Amino acid sequence: QPVNGSPLPLQGKKALVTAGPTQEPLDPVRYISNHSSGKMGIAIADALAAAGAEVTLVLGPTGLSAAHPSVKTIRVVTADDMFRGSEAHFAQSEVIVMAAAVADYRPKHIADLKMKKGEGDALILELEKTKDILRTLGATRTEKQVLVGFSLETNNEQEYALKKLREKNLDLVVMNSLNDKGAGFNHDTNKVTLFDKQGGINELPLKSKSEVAQDIVRKIVDILHTNTP
Ligand code: CTP
Ligand code: CA
Repeated sequence: QPVNGSPLPLQGKKALVTAGPTQEPLDPVRYISNHSSGKMGIAIADALAAAGAEVTLVLGPTGLSAAHPSVKTIRVVTADDMFRGSEAHFAQSEVIVMAAAVADYRPKHIADLKMKKGEGDALILELEKTKDILRTLGATRTEKQVLVGFSLETNNEQEYALKKLREKNLDLVVMNSLNDKGAGFNHDTNKVTLFDKQGGINELPLKSKSEVAQDIVRKIVDILHTNTP
């Protein structure tokens, strides 16, 4: 409760955030993963908590943590773990932000023992698709929920972002471009464009990830008010 007594905008609301990479094991010493640090998603979890929400953060492997004391963090490793952690909190959450860089494929077989180098010059790995957490859980969403996804691309950014907004049933997609200076993995700044399902476009200037997170939370509060006036 702020000092002036007016309630925080997300007081009493539950929020679910996914963040960070996932790691898909190949054998006891190796995995497939990506460069996500989790910074952007963690900043969103902190900003939602600062706005009064009760936040559950399902966080892939990273050395970073949420700063806000009220964020409940569930640490996971694989896409499958992240799916189960998210599924457990999805239905009861009014605000859902999926910022994690989930592996799209995992090794089909996990070796029990460390794999040894063979005689040949190449190794072919068989991979299978992981479950798309946002798409699968998004298919069960209600109109009362606000569902936000991320889109990180190297090319045709806008086209792909709008495709995700539409196909994953989102209220808002946050588009990141790896081509923008000061944006992307492990930076403390980010440059994003927000696309909402009403066709609204908001291109934000380069700013700190915590300021970007606050802008996203403001947009979420607006969407909540439009959905339930
Ligand atoms: N996402 C997810 N589960 C997956 C893959 C993606 O929840 N298995 C979510 C991400 O957290 C993000 C959004 O879906 O919010 C878009 O992820 P992205 O990797 O950009 O798109 P994909 O749909 O996986 O398509 P592609 O990687 O081919 O661009
Ligand atoms: Ca992907």
